[in-house]
Amino acid sequence: MDGNALSAAPAGKSRKLHILTWGCQMNEYDSARMADLLAPLGYGICPSPDEADLVILNTCHIREKAAEKVFSELGRLHARQKERAGAKALIAVAGCVAQAEGAEIRARMPFVDVVVGPQAYHRLPEMITRATREKGGVVDTSFPAESKFDFLPDEHAPRGVSAFLPVQEGCDKFCTFCVVPYTRGAEASRPVAKIMEEARRLLQNGAREITLLGQNVNAWHGEGPDGKGWSLGRLIREMAGLDGLLRLRYTTSHPRDMDADLIAAHRDVPQLAPFVHLPVQSGSGRILRAMNRGHTAADYLGIIERLRKARPDIAFSSDFIVGFPGETARDFEDTLALARAVNYAQAYSFKYSARPGTPAAGMKDQVPDDVRSARLRELQSLLSEQQRAFNRSFVGKTLPVLFDRAGRQAGQVLGRSPFMQAVVASSDNPPDFMADVIITSATQNSLQGDLCASLS
Ligand code: 5AD
Ligand code: SF4
Repeated sequence: MDGNALSAAPAGKSRKLHILTWGCQMNEYDSARMADLLAPLGYGICPSPDEADLVILNTCHIREKAAEKVFSELGRLHARQKERAGAKALIAVAGCVAQAEGAEIRARMPFVDVVVGPQAYHRLPEMITRATREKGGVVDTSFPAESKFDFLPDEHAPRGVSAFLPVQEGCDKFCTFCVVPYTRGAEASRPVAKIMEEARRLLQNGAREITLLGQNVNAWHGEGPDGKGWSLGRLIREMAGLDGLLRLRYTTSHPRDMDADLIAAHRDVPQLAPFVHLPVQSGSGRILRAMNRGHTAADYLGIIERLRKARPDIAFSSDFIVGFPGETARDFEDTLALARAVNYAQAYSFKYSARPGTPAAGMKDQVPDDVRSARLRELQSLLSEQQRAFNRSFVGKTLPVLFDRAGRQAGQVLGRSPFMQAVVASSDNPPDFMADVIITSATQNSLQGDLCASLS
């Protein structure tokens, strides 16, 4: 699968920039900000790498497959450039593969001009200028003392109806399978004033839904105007007062940081969507301990119960890893049992992938690939059935849908329900509105419906 291409009108810029993005929503945000940063240098987004003067690959290192894609894409880009006569485009590798591999990338692929980590990309304009002048490549994978957020331009291209807003970055949890604490660095929280300022700007530029982002978003404890550390629940209450904000989400949260205040926000704040992505990874106490998750299966189920009490219609999604080192058939049964107990609206599941430098990569009892594949199939079939049943349960009911894009066919609009379901309806209105929709049919991946009155 290819990364997602960021595409927008070139808007009269003299140089062309193509950005390919893999991985999480934070990477999507970072790609948009890189485009904002490079606009003053005359770069406008173009839809194809073949036309570009600069190609940025914003990469993901979470599993081996994700990281491998970067190198095959680089190989493809280089081959295409060699076939074409004329000036060579600059190539930059950003994101978590850049952070993890650093100068190694240039050793393997010397045609790469720039390597920049996720905490240093505010320096991209200067790096690109240097790379244009000098041969030999420019690498920056430092964790600078300054926060990149203080150096990103205030101006930004419109982000659409549904916008991401990072409030927290990095991770101190050190789950034994995960590269994030090494690639994104230590947990850091942005202050309330900066977040509110960015939220206001997003709303002025047409956003109606904001998703607060963080690798551990509910560990956010940014400084409030009172000089004290606020909780995410308090920030959500503050943001709910913003004019024009119809819907608020946050992702990705960690069970350990799901405090009483955030749970109460689900009861009290009508704009807060009744949908939480709460990764559990495994249902086995033994494996959760080996993963260093810091919670048991019972703790997790207790949180789900408290959230359901606070907001009875709340729905959940999760991440699962199957085949973590030492996982027995019995441990895997515990994972299936937990998934059955929660009954998810949707969930992501992955085969364990050993990542260099993480403690789990060196653990004994690595699970053979055929066993991991069989477990993944079994878990995915359960989760798919749950998702189909969840979606089917809405047929005949009405849901408020934020339509944010055109559908695949003419005269169709595509949006999201409060529970993140994709909803398709017929409408000739430009897709930038919230409306009630009567759901007429459902599949595993989407709902179809008819518009009732427009809500805004
Ligand atoms: N192998 C497989 N899946 C992983 N994830 C993180 N690290 C690994 C790994 N080494 C999954 C987790 C996490 C999601 C973003 O990716 O489920 O929540
Ligand atoms: Fe990785 Fe665990 Fe941190 Fe999530 S909480 S980013 S899985 S180390």
